[in-house]
Amino acid sequence: MEHFYLSLLLLFVSLVSLSFFVLFYKHRSQFTGLNLPPGKTGYPVIGESLEFLSTGWKGHPEKFIFDRMTKFSSEVFKTSLLGQPAAVFAGAACNKFLFSNENKLVISWWPDSVNKVFPSSTQTSSKEEAKKMRKLLPSFLKPEALQRYIGIMDTIAARHFADGWENKKEVVVFPLAKSYTFWVASRVFMSVEDPEHIAKFSEPFQVLASGLISIPIDLPGTPFNRAIKASDFIRKELHKIIKQRKVDLAEGKATPTQDILSHMLLTCDENGQYMGELDIADKILGLLIGGHDTASAACTFIVKYLSELPDIYEGVYKEQMEIAKSKAPGELLNWDDIQKMKYSWNVACEVLRLAPPLQGAFREALTDFVFNGFSIPKGWKLYWSANSTHKSAEYFPEPQKFDPTRFEGNGPAPYTFVPFGGGPRMCPGKEYARLEILVFMHHVVKRFKWEKMIPDEKIVVDPMPMPAKGLPVRLFPHKA
Ligand code: HEM
Repeated sequence: MEHFYLSLLLLFVSLVSLSFFVLFYKHRSQFTGLNLPPGKTGYPVIGESLEFLSTGWKGHPEKFIFDRMTKFSSEVFKTSLLGQPAAVFAGAACNKFLFSNENKLVISWWPDSVNKVFPSSTQTSSKEEAKKMRKLLPSFLKPEALQRYIGIMDTIAARHFADGWENKKEVVVFPLAKSYTFWVASRVFMSVEDPEHIAKFSEPFQVLASGLISIPIDLPGTPFNRAIKASDFIRKELHKIIKQRKVDLAEGKATPTQDILSHMLLTCDENGQYMGELDIADKILGLLIGGHDTASAACTFIVKYLSELPDIYEGVYKEQMEIAKSKAPGELLNWDDIQKMKYSWNVACEVLRLAPPLQGAFREALTDFVFNGFSIPKGWKLYWSANSTHKSAEYFPEPQKFDPTRFEGNGPAPYTFVPFGGGPRMCPGKEYARLEILVFMHHVVKRFKWEKMIPDEKIVVDPMPMPAKGLPVRLFPHKA
């Protein structure tokens, strides 16, 4: 009997060793080839994912990149991220290369974790789904539509500040900024306005965002597992809204052009196929994620920097009060007002430079190619990073200094300021985001001055940057 157990144990140990050997061999063989970029590839499966993610958790995502650029004296280095052989492309020339070779040498790629959180995207492919999304968006993000949203954003901001900020001595900014951008997105994308309804499914969004770019291990308690559960919950809520909208459209209680949801329900593709309800739920989910978490991170960091930099606050205050004073009581902000917010937008851009809501994104090599003398194999994942230029003294002298004048005149050199990406995949929500951020700035400075309650609050990047405690501030309303 003893022999039997011993043999079983030996067999088990041999199998485990063999699996590890195969894994190591497979991992190493992906990185042996002619003239690959220099770099480290870490352990099988996890590669350098933990270092990549943990520099973000410690608040310095750029460290992963700058450390390796220095160590390997190269703007391109190989690594292994989220289970994939990868190369990081850092710097303006690299950004230019990736952005201008979309659909030629490279194509947009999202980690497995994203595909699994959005299951409908695996029925076709995330690439096909992204194409569909890009086709749908222009009618909602074209200038005429955007101009209409300014009044909506202004109305929502006024209600949001009345409910969440006024008559309060202290507030926590990050959750408030999220509720503002979520409210705007819910209203503009699917005409949902009831704050209680919105609150019900806004909370799981943070869980979802955290697990979206994570190691795709679906075990109880992992960020990835929590993200899948959160996305299932939100999808169910969205599904209810979609079903109700179908009824409302049939009964004439909703109009075909009122928002992106009606549009998705009533538009068929070139083959006469309408989108399924679950597919629509996924698309709206994607838009809500893209469209509210990013902008709320930007609004939060604007509040943070304005509290730290009184001169900059004064400049924004002056500009916004001139606009406020030019308005009749109850008159909403309009396109002309937004055009006058030049200094405020330069300040917002400097915030987006120092705390880009999206750290970067992936591409996949469509074919073998050579860049900067290094071979990039077909199928490798390529990562561009906003911080590689935003925080580099080569492109932004004294990169840690907050200086909105960098955006005056011609502004930063091409491909160096890239919070919205570039090329054909550049963020289609850029203008929408500009409007909601400026409307937010208008409302916050018009009402208050503030000071941070935790002077050295830690910043965590997971995957968006956020102050660890949500940025609690003490409010000082302006005297009437
Ligand atoms: C401050 C706010 C925002 C920032 C910093 C931001 C940033 C970005 C970046 C960097 C990309 C490109 C990713 C890549 O290169 O693959 C992107 C793509 C995208 N963004 Fe935004 N975004 C913001 C707001 C929005 C808003 C408000 C919407 C929706 C109304 C939106 C919808 C999208 C979509 C759908 C894509 C995917 C485009 C494609 O793959 O073709 N974003 N965003």
